[in-house]
This record gives sequence, C-alpha cells and structure tokens, in this order.
Amino acid sequence: MALTVHSTVGEWLDHPVGGRILAGLLAQGGTTPETLSPARGLPLEQLVALSGGKLPAEALDALTAAYRAAAPDEAAEADADNEQPTGWVEQITPGRFAGQTVIVTGAAAGIGRAVASRVAREGGRVVAADLSGDKLGELVAALTDLPAGAEVVPVAGDISDQADVARIVLAAGGRIDALANVAGIMDDMSAIHEVDDALWERVLRVNLEGTMRLTRAVVPHMLEAREGRIVNVASEAGLRGSAAGVAYTASKHAVVGLTRSSAVMYAKRGIRTNAVAPGGVATGIPVPGQAEFGAPVLRPHQVNILSLATAEELAASITFLLSRDSVNLNGAVIASDGGWSAV
Ligand SMILES: NC(=O)c1ccc[n+]([C@@H]2O[C@H](COP(=O)([O-])OP(=O)(O)OC[C@H]3O[C@@H](n4cnc5c(N)ncnc54)[C@H](O)[C@@H]3O)[C@@H](O)[C@H]2O)c1
Repeated sequence: MALTVHSTVGEWLDHPVGGRILAGLLAQGGTTPETLSPARGLPLEQLVALSGGKLPAEALDALTAAYRAAAPDEAAEADADNEQPTGWVEQITPGRFAGQTVIVTGAAAGIGRAVASRVAREGGRVVAADLSGDKLGELVAALTDLPAGAEVVPVAGDISDQADVARIVLAAGGRIDALANVAGIMDDMSAIHEVDDALWERVLRVNLEGTMRLTRAVVPHMLEAREGRIVNVASEAGLRGSAAGVAYTASKHAVVGLTRSSAVMYAKRGIRTNAVAPGGVATGIPVPGQAEFGAPVLRPHQVNILSLATAEELAASITFLLSRDSVNLNGAVIASDGGWSAV
C-alpha cells in the first residue's frame, strides 16, 4: 500500500521507507517514533492540528514528497489504482437536523467546529459561537453547498459574558432544538498547592460558568417548546484525577454535575441533558505551560491513553446525543475515548 497524508501514523511508522523518513523528521524535533504510539490510528495529516502549530502542513508535504521520491513505483501504482484512505470516514446522515436550530459553542476550532460543520451538512441551522470571529468566518466560508434550509450563523462572543450569551441566544431566533456546550480551555497541569488565582478563575469561568450561563439562557426556550437536547463536553478529567491539573479536573467534574442535575430537573419536561467525556483528541487546544510539580506527576498516567481521536470522531458521538435518536439517554456521561477510561 502506498502512503499519503491520509494514511495513518501507524501505517507510516510500519512502512520500510515511510517509517525511516518519518523517524528522521521526528529526530529533527528531538523526539522518537515511540512518542507517537497513541496517535498510530490517526491520519498523518492530523499531526498538524495535534502539534498546535509546531509541525506545519508544509513539513508533511515534504515528507510525502520524500517518500514518493524514495518509492516512486509504489506511489505511481497507487495513483493508478486511485487508492482511498483507510480507517473511519465520516458518513453524513442527510436531513438528520433538518428544520432544527442547534447552538454550538467553541465552533471556530477543534471539536466544536467539527460538530457545527456536521450539523449544518445534515440540514440544521447552526448558531456557531466562539471568541474568534475570524475563524468563524473561515468556517462559514468552508461550508459551501449546504442543503436547503441549512445555515451557519456566526456569533463572536465570550460564553462567560452574560451580554454575549444573550446575543448568542438571540441569534437562534426563539427556536432552540439543541445546545452543544463545547467551548473549553485547558490548564497547565498544576496541583492545588501551585495553582494561581488567575488560571483557576479563567478555567472555571469558561468551562463551568460559561456552560452554566448558556444552558440557563437556553432552557426557558426548551421548556416552552417542551423539547430539547443539551450536550456538555466534559473530559476524561471529569471522570478521574489523573488526566489534567486541579482547575481543569475540578471544572470538568463540575460539568458532569451540571449534566446530572439538569437531567433530573427537566426529565419530565422533555429536555434531556447528556455529556461526552473525550479522551485525547487531535486538536490544537492550547496548553498554557507545564506546572513544575503537577506536570511530571501526571505524565506517567498519560501513557495509558490507548489512542487519539480526530475532532470528527468526537463530533460523531456528540451529534448522536444532539439528535432525536438519543431518545432514551438522559444524564449519561459517555466516554468517547477509544477505551481509555476502561483501563
Ligand atoms: N482536545 C482534547 O484532547 C480534549 C480532551 C477532552 C476534552 N476536551 C474538551 O473539548 C472541548 C473542545 O476542545 P478542543 O480540543 O476542540 O479545543 P480547541 O481549542 O481546538 O477549540 C475550542 C474553541 O473554544 C473557543 N473558546 C474558548 N474559550 C471560549 C469562550 N470563553 N467563549 C467562546 N469560545 C471560547 C476557542 O476560541 C476555540 O475555538 C473543550 O471543552 C475541551 O475541554 C478536549
């Protein structure tokens, strides 16, 4: 099989020519193929997002060019056979969100962008909220050819700011079928004795308070409609103590609490609230440093990650919960982590 940027990291590493070239690139960055073990199932191109800008797309173009130069016959044969990428490929369910309005926060990047894109391509009207107006513009520009009735309404705003939350909800125009609380930020892996007030407040304000504010603003519309689905993005750090620092871990445990409380409160009012707990996902989520005490304590636990997922793979789990097909789920916290939480 010939290698492309769509081939998995594992296929590259196991290939006699590709493995050597990839190992060379990693060595230039002072790292080894072993560090990529959790990413073996990911398409090579996902390393760009995963590296948070350290590995530019051009480096992968150079990698592919080097492979094609070293194995020209194999590459030409694959071109002639029009070889398709292996692995999971997103499969749209046409019309799944037709006639529905879905608010997605964090929609300009990573998991939120993949959710917004999928809902729109499945016929929904998406209110796409994010701090970054520029990146929301890029999302809208990328989504050409949407089905009739589908739309992406970008709203630049901060989910932890009450006035911005009101603008986001206003953009929905009264009808809100579903809400995906995806926006979130990481911490620096700090333990409780070293966490500073600014980081603690920022992480709790976005991950917990932002999720609460948006949900609080949306629920009255859903109560009136007697129907609605809310999906909160928690984390493996909402299930255990070893996946992140104290601020992020506390915020995501609290998101699980918000989920369960709302599930009970509105169980008889047609509103269902569930959470997804992602494991490692190949996005560019910024990590604001590595705390001196906490980061080394956590590092050995992170080798248990079985695999990294793509944002689109998370969107598959989240859009299922956003859809009416999640009919009998309420208060569930679904680990979407390739099995990490089972270890
Ligand atoms: N990437 C992972 O490995 C991972 C793992 C577990 C959980 N998660 C959770 O998944 C969610 C999405 O993460 P991601 O990896 O896609 O991150 P990302 O950084 O790629 O995207 C997050 C988006 O949220 C936006 N955002 C941040 N603060 C905001 C605010 N106050 N108001 C509005 N928008 C804001 C950012 O601008 C960004 O576009 C987060 O809640 C994160 O905690 C991610």
